[in-house]
Amino acid sequence: MENNQYPFVNLPLPYNYNALEPYIDAKTMEVHHDKHLQGYINNLNQVLKGYQGLQLLTLEQLIENADRLPKGLQAPIRNYAGGVYNHRVYFDGMEPPTDQKPRGKLMEMINSQYGSLQSFKDVFKKEAQGVFGAGYAWLVYDKGKLKILSTPNQNSPIEQGFCPIFNIDVWEHAYYLKHLNERGDYIDDWFNVVNWDMANQNYLNCIRRYY
Ligand SMILES: [Fe+2]
Repeated sequence: MENNQYPFVNLPLPYNYNALEPYIDAKTMEVHHDKHLQGYINNLNQVLKGYQGLQLLTLEQLIENADRLPKGLQAPIRNYAGGVYNHRVYFDGMEPPTDQKPRGKLMEMINSQYGSLQSFKDVFKKEAQGVFGAGYAWLVYDKGKLKILSTPNQNSPIEQGFCPIFNIDVWEHAYYLKHLNERGDYIDDWFNVVNWDMANQNYLNCIRRYY
């Protein structure tokens, strides 16, 4: 991940704000990236300002070691470092809609574990819809297998040692302007802008890292 250490900056999106239309609207993308993610970056830098030792850690290391930090730092690091990491996974995991069918090793694994892409989407959607309040649904790699899970707030599955392949942000700020309270419609729309090549690359990196 680029810019992986203090001071953190808000890297530009890899596409235009309106690139995910009509599935995710430009205004939502702009506010989500420029206001929400920027807020997490500012807060994380603010917390790290007084801790030179922690400034040497990568974003992932901050999250993975959150439970070993002094008590007063655990929640801010989990929330702000998690907020930066989770949003970067989310924004990098999307691309302008394309007709190209998902392919590669990840798709083979999805087919073998879930039967078909559609069955996988059904399970993933159920998980994302089931997040109570704010959080994320994730596809992660764990011990040779794919796993679908969700995390509350800005908690991140890398804290438990899982290797993320992609996520969907189901905080209301990710969809409320266009989809209002219809999270299910947002999830269906989001499937049209998943960057499957990036997901496949992440999957291959996970395998390489753990075996
Ligand atoms: Fe968000």
